[in-house]
Amino acid sequence: MYIVDLINKKRTNKKFSKEEIKYIVNSYVSGEIQDYQMSSLLMAICINGLDSEETIYLTDAMLESGDRINLSSIPGIKVDKHSTGGVGDKTTLIVLPIVACLNVPVAKMSGRGLGYTGGTIDKLESIPGFNVNVSIDNFIKQVKKHNICIGTTSSTIAPADKKIYALRDVTGTVSSKSLIAASIMSKKLATGADKILLDVKYGNGALLNNMEDAVDLAKLMVYIGNSHGKETRALITNMNCPLGNMVGNALEIKEVIEILNGRGNKDLRDLCITLASYMVSMSKNIDFMSAQGEVLSSLRTGAAYQKFLELIKLQGGDINSVKISSNVIEVKSNKAGYINSISAINIAEAALKLGSGRMTKEDTIDMSVGIETLKNVGDYVNIGDSLARVYVGNKEIDYNIVLDAFKISNIKTDKEPLIYGIIK
Ligand code: URA
Repeated sequence: MYIVDLINKKRTNKKFSKEEIKYIVNSYVSGEIQDYQMSSLLMAICINGLDSEETIYLTDAMLESGDRINLSSIPGIKVDKHSTGGVGDKTTLIVLPIVACLNVPVAKMSGRGLGYTGGTIDKLESIPGFNVNVSIDNFIKQVKKHNICIGTTSSTIAPADKKIYALRDVTGTVSSKSLIAASIMSKKLATGADKILLDVKYGNGALLNNMEDAVDLAKLMVYIGNSHGKETRALITNMNCPLGNMVGNALEIKEVIEILNGRGNKDLRDLCITLASYMVSMSKNIDFMSAQGEVLSSLRTGAAYQKFLELIKLQGGDINSVKISSNVIEVKSNKAGYINSISAINIAEAALKLGSGRMTKEDTIDMSVGIETLKNVGDYVNIGDSLARVYVGNKEIDYNIVLDAFKISNIKTDKEPLIYGIIK
């Protein structure tokens, strides 16, 4: 096989065979295919696409490029959860303790964030002492004993995806739905859960901006998961506004604690309850309403919060030492009216400029900075009312970015639904 022939094949919109896709992935990993050739091929895929069969072949080739974690020694049905990412998305840190305290084992491998805000692992690392580098043996032991462990994805899981993703990131080829689906699902399948729950986000703060694209991506990932014998479901959720009121690593840990104690942002709480209820229902094979009853009770009794504290302690974290910047600037409204939206992308940009995320893998994150929105969509504000608090570290920003995130008018518009639906 010759890579130039394969590039021409996709350029002219023809279908790859399983062998051809395997050749492409393996030869790129081995270095036989050069970055400039792979970039050209990825662009042809972005333009002409892969069909669902080719996407499965790609997923399998990336899955087979590395190790698979065997969770079969852990009793019970293990359900993994994955979000395609968004601004202020701290749901994993709320949902996992809820389900773990309800006897649903969760063995979670998470990533660091590249882009506007940190990923789950970065958020956990804002807790001094928290260890995310857990060996596979200890990972499995902890889940067996405590039903919960969160570790960072090892470099031996789907290494082909790592190399291809790094190239996509710098060649404008991230947004292909087939490439996204294969990238996410190869890692999900490698980490060994029996069932998978996906949270596919759409909106200005998400990977995909419109709902139709998110639904297509969700269908593709559900198809890949189910084809591998793993029951897979995907919620389609809105990411036009930040999720919750806190954006920034340590701030988000504070918000996790609020929600687990029955306080805080209603949308965030509702989404976490829904995600946790699906996970419990999938793991225990019970109906959604019964699962939701268990989830609500775990929040009411404090069991979910105790499980969160247990997780932090087990992995060496000191929850009382989380540091949030004390240099706080309040952003005040220059208009009176109803808040019709709070732009996720604007808040994310401001948070990134403060230092809460990284644009390259080498950047370091300032865990203590971020933004707290003080008003929600639908609220009425007067001129001079505080809209947000900005927690500043050593980088100053233009606070108008935060002010401009709030779209205020004298007409109250309907709030967009947070959860659009579920794909099974
Ligand atoms: N997250 C991934 O893991 N892969 C993608 O391609 C996009 C988001």
